[in-house]
Amino acid sequence: MAAQSTKTLFLILLSIAIMRAQGALNVHYYDQSCPQAEYIVAKTVLNASIYDPKVPPRLLRMFFHDCFIRGCDASILLDSTPGNKAEKDGPPNISIRSFYVIDDAKAKLEKACPQTVSCADTGGPYWKVPKGRKDGRVSKASDTTNLPPPTLNTTQLIQSFANRGLNIKDLVALSGAHTLGFSHCSSFVARIHNFSKLHDIDPSINAEFGSMLKKKCPRSNRSGDAGQFLDSTSSKFDNNYYKQIVAGKGVFTTDQGMYHDQRTRSIIQAFAKDQSLFFREFVASMIKLGNVGVKEVGEVRLNCKRIN
Ligand code: HEM
Ligand SMILES: *[C@@H]1O[C@H](CO)[C@@H](O)[C@H](O)[C@H]1NC(C)=O
Ligand SMILES: *[C@@H]1O[C@H](CO)[C@@H](O)[C@H](O)[C@H]1NC(C)=O
Ligand SMILES: *[C@@H]1O[C@H](CO)[C@@H](O)[C@H](O)[C@H]1NC(C)=O
Ligand SMILES: *[C@@H]1O[C@H](CO)[C@@H](O)[C@H](O)[C@H]1NC(C)=O
Ligand SMILES: *[C@@H]1O[C@H](CO)[C@@H](O)[C@H](O)[C@H]1NC(C)=O
Repeated sequence: MAAQSTKTLFLILLSIAIMRAQGALNVHYYDQSCPQAEYIVAKTVLNASIYDPKVPPRLLRMFFHDCFIRGCDASILLDSTPGNKAEKDGPPNISIRSFYVIDDAKAKLEKACPQTVSCADTGGPYWKVPKGRKDGRVSKASDTTNLPPPTLNTTQLIQSFANRGLNIKDLVALSGAHTLGFSHCSSFVARIHNFSKLHDIDPSINAEFGSMLKKKCPRSNRSGDAGQFLDSTSSKFDNNYYKQIVAGKGVFTTDQGMYHDQRTRSIIQAFAKDQSLFFREFVASMIKLGNVGVKEVGEVRLNCKRIN
């Protein structure tokens, strides 16, 4: 029961974050004009997650990618057009196939509160808070090279987050999203085959875990679906990701590397010991992530897939 309510709480948080990222609606605006909006979106996400457990990790990752590229402006929701390959069709797109959930939520929202979305554009009586998030008009597949690859060292990771106004604690807390994650072999295969002159497998990996990864991800001739969950309780939002890192079972160089850097190690240890501390810090850092590069000037998209 505790696990279930944790997950529910998390999904609601995620839904709110996504709605804010979409820019169509302002949180305070909601309170008065469409109080059931958050409930509608949370319910849509929850229902979709029951049918497809891949929905929460995909939406969570989508949110991260959106915010790291041109700010949280829903640029990731735009479809490619003739002559422009959009962000969603860029190289790391492979696990981001849950856009339909957002479209479904948006449709339900418009049914329940038809004037809410359209009012946002014209400035209705409740549109008193000036900071409505606006949608971006640019989405480019080539921008996905700005996402941090899983091979970075901790110094580079810290820099990548600092470039977006996120600090070291945010980096460690947000990486905890990998509690829900799955990765294809390609993102860590260099760690388990011919890693260096001296070591076939990255010595920072727990030996047993390393040979298990190797079995799952042979050097060649493996299935395109082959890969590994980023923590052993991947359907549960918990602090197990940090416990695994402490045990040398981090899947990416980025995950494990943070345990071998003095600046991040103690934060990982603290989250591994105290799940409620992790939850509090995760929520705080998600809100910060949701504020990265927010546009106050721009448009309110009528359809998430197209610029107006
Ligand atoms: C710290 C830098 C990060 C790096 C280098 C990184 C890298 C990756 C990679 C390579 C994958 C596997 C993709 C695949 O093979 O399908 C992945 C999955 C994932 N990432 Fe990250 N990530 C980072 C931070 C984040 C953050 C901040 C979040 C969210 C707040 C996040 C959420 C996820 C989720 C939920 C998945 C699983 C997706 C799925 O199961 O379909 N990641 N990440
Ligand atoms: C729940 O999700 C399924 C699968 O996406 C969908 O077919 C169904 O219409 C949804 N039901 C509600 C009440 O949203
Ligand atoms: C992901 O991107 C690749 C390379 O840009 C593209 O060929 C592929 O069709 C995309 N896959 C999905 C599911 O969007
Ligand atoms: C991290 O990688 C960068 C770029 O390859 C390198 O210059 C730097 O020395 C590395 N830092 C550490 C601590 O390994
Ligand atoms: C392993 O890497 C070394 C260079 O570090 C290279 O010379 C060798 O051919 C590689 N072995 C295989 C089997 O790929
Ligand atoms: C690759 O996989 C196929 C089908 O599983 C198998 O027939 C083939 O022998 C494998 N090739 C190598 C080089 O392992």
